[in-house]
Amino acid sequence: MLIHLQEVCSPAQVGVLRDLIDQGAFVDGEATAGRVAREVKSNEQLETGARVDTVRTEVRKALMGHSGFVSFARPKTLSRILVSRYREGMAYGPHIDDALMGGRRADLSFTLFLSDPGSYEGGELVMDGPEGSTEIKLAAGDAVVYATSAIHQVAPVTRGERIAVVGWVRSLVRRPDQREILFDLDQVSTRLFERDGKTPELDLILKTKANLLRQWAED
Ligand code: NI
Repeated sequence: MLIHLQEVCSPAQVGVLRDLIDQGAFVDGEATAGRVAREVKSNEQLETGARVDTVRTEVRKALMGHSGFVSFARPKTLSRILVSRYREGMAYGPHIDDALMGGRRADLSFTLFLSDPGSYEGGELVMDGPEGSTEIKLAAGDAVVYATSAIHQVAPVTRGERIAVVGWVRSLVRRPDQREILFDLDQVSTRLFERDGKTPELDLILKTKANLLRQWAED
């Protein structure tokens, strides 16, 4: 299960992030790939320093303030955040991300797109699953969140450049099926509240959700 989050960053926020990123220096992305993934990785990353720290702070704030992200991911911490750049000819072949990032379990991965999709060709995030592959290329400011266990790749960029922020989430809830139940209960309770206001039935759903979260959360 993956989710497309709309407008994690407003156009103004995207502009601020892009100003910071575009004036920064980039280094080879090889350093942050595992031994096997390195074989297929060809991209660049914003170098360590104040610039990337500011981007991380802003992206963390934007995601944690996005109700769709919080409901879907149940984030405990965002373990690692990188700014990646793919210029013409660059790609990241099929790979899986590390299970542990900085000593923390990585349950979910996200990609926050920061380039206008019309400004580059290729560069789709491709998720390989049993039902075939899904290509994802979103508007600047939108993000996708998916299971870190999934095999995925970034298709070669054939024109322009693709800037994105990628990161990993340690969730309070380890199991995807349990996160899905909580996500669905959030959807139902929100819609019921919008339709009927606070009712005894809504209270029962909220009580059930809270009881499940207490049972499943690893805080
Ligand atoms: Ni990856």
